Amino acid sequence: MVQAAPDLPLTDNCHHYTRLQDVPKDIQKYWKGRYKIFPNYNDGIYLTDDAWFGVTPEPVARKIAGDTWLPSANTVVDMFAGAGGNTIAFALWGFFDHVIGIERNADTLACAQENARVAGVPEGVITWIHGDCFEVLKELLAGPGERTPEEVSLEEGTIEPLDPTRTVLFASPPWGGVSYTAQEVFDLSTMEPYNLQALHDACYPLPHALYLPRTSDLQQLADVLPPPKTKSRDAVDGTDGTTQEAEPELRVVQYCMHGFSKALVAYYPAAEELYSMAQAPE
Ligand SMILES: C[S@@+](CC[C@H](N)C(=O)[O-])C[C@H]1O[C@@H](n2cnc3c(N)ncnc32)[C@H](O)[C@@H]1O
Repeated sequence: MVQAAPDLPLTDNCHHYTRLQDVPKDIQKYWKGRYKIFPNYNDGIYLTDDAWFGVTPEPVARKIAGDTWLPSANTVVDMFAGAGGNTIAFALWGFFDHVIGIERNADTLACAQENARVAGVPEGVITWIHGDCFEVLKELLAGPGERTPEEVSLEEGTIEPLDPTRTVLFASPPWGGVSYTAQEVFDLSTMEPYNLQALHDACYPLPHALYLPRTSDLQQLADVLPPPKTKSRDAVDGTDGTTQEAEPELRVVQYCMHGFSKALVAYYPAAEELYSMAQAPE
């Protein structure tokens, strides 16, 4: 059973820096750009020192929130919530009824919860989960087991199982390993601690959006997409009268600020079987 996280207290590792001399050297350049990341920084935004390296700037997160939405989906799961950049944007500017943010570091999660309050996200709109996203996702997709969905929803703090036909996953993992800036084309198999294949395997068969370095290898992104199993989904008529198979569409979008790409997002479609379940009449 997956439980929602309680409100976690800010700790000594959560900071709202107001003076350059207090900011550790390696994050000073990010702090100097704080208003580009959080236009509302002065309202009391908190980050751990590590969170500065990975936080999604608000204008980018806002755009991604709209782009991640699918007509069939009412729920988005932010697998790596961090300090809340994307989760908050999903709650404020997305079109989802349910927003779930998972984060395994308690200090970072406390910052995310505080930042959501500061951004004006109404209480209860985001369901926060403190845990490992891979484990949590498996449990949420496993269904209610012996219990009816009604029994599950009565257990206080317990999160209802996800409906895979109505859920989109978003993942902005750590970009560890060899720095992506050191390679002209970033080899996604070397990304640590989770490489592209591991992320895709965890998310498939749900539709999922992966937030990755701007130089990511596009061929590798395309290669993890399974080939179509049937001819019926989106089959198109060729001009020569034959029916040709339409490949499942992988969309890759570069998100730029001030003329420079911050990151790309690879939008993977749902697996075919899920797609047909979503289309099936009730
Ligand atoms: C790049 S940051 C995410 C930044 C986030 N999008 C934001 O805007 O603040 C990656 C986050 O994933 C968390 N993380 C790493 N592995 C995780 C896991 N297996 N489950 C949940 N969270 C994880 C890290 O603690 C870190 O906060």
